[in-house]
Amino acid sequence: MQCVDLGCGGGEVTFELATLVGPSGRVVGIDMDEVKLGLGCGVARERGLANVELRAGDVNEWNEPECYDVVYSRFLLQHLSRPVSLLQRMWAAVKPGGAIVIEDSDFDGLTCYPHNDGYDFFARMYPRVLASYGGDHTLGRKLYHHFLDIGMPTPDVRIVQRADVRGKNKAIILSTLEATADSIVAAKLASKNEVDIAIASLAAFTEDPGSLISGPRNFQVWSRRPAQI
Ligand SMILES: C[S@@+](CC[C@H](N)C(=O)[O-])C[C@H]1O[C@@H](n2cnc3c(N)ncnc32)[C@H](O)[C@@H]1O
Repeated sequence: MQCVDLGCGGGEVTFELATLVGPSGRVVGIDMDEVKLGLGCGVARERGLANVELRAGDVNEWNEPECYDVVYSRFLLQHLSRPVSLLQRMWAAVKPGGAIVIEDSDFDGLTCYPHNDGYDFFARMYPRVLASYGGDHTLGRKLYHHFLDIGMPTPDVRIVQRADVRGKNKAIILSTLEATADSIVAAKLASKNEVDIAIASLAAFTEDPGSLISGPRNFQVWSRRPAQI
């Protein structure tokens, strides 16, 4: 099978797809962040994945009609100001008999226990950072509707939400806050000092074995293009 992973980042899912399709298949990962792609290329080499091609590019300019058996993206559309335009091109890129699979988030579902100021800061700031460049923190819940509008047949939907009390995934919200710190300050949503205090608070909360940290609600939505007869 031929697959494409749009907004692939460092290739975490790209490599899973490459393992699934095996040596006779091929997976193309596309992202505009060349640093992440460079790191991903190193990982692909280490894992001996010769069927992966990581390509630099802006998905707003991407267009490859009927080229792939699987067209995939995770956590990309929430960052785009014209997500439906990309979804239309993603659907057009699916070969007859192939599938489109999208995973994206709804950050209104964030929750933790007990209360933590740093986590609360992230829950308030992340939607505003996305909005500052045209993104949408509730994109996940809209995917099914967009699929229907575009004319994709009988889309399926599943929601997955993490809640962590230990382990490295408990730090995903902390690392997302750290990664968006500069954007929060640049968009004048908070001062650097306020961001630093929030990061310190969330870091201590993440270390606390008594705390529970959830991620956003993640919507998984998929549809198949009928095979040609
Ligand atoms: C949250 S990361 C998700 C990475 C990967 N899909 C994953 O789930 O691990 C979002 C990615 O989308 C990429 N991205 C955002 N806008 C893009 C655009 N217009 N063209 C290409 N990549 C874009 C970013 O560079 C980033 O790597």
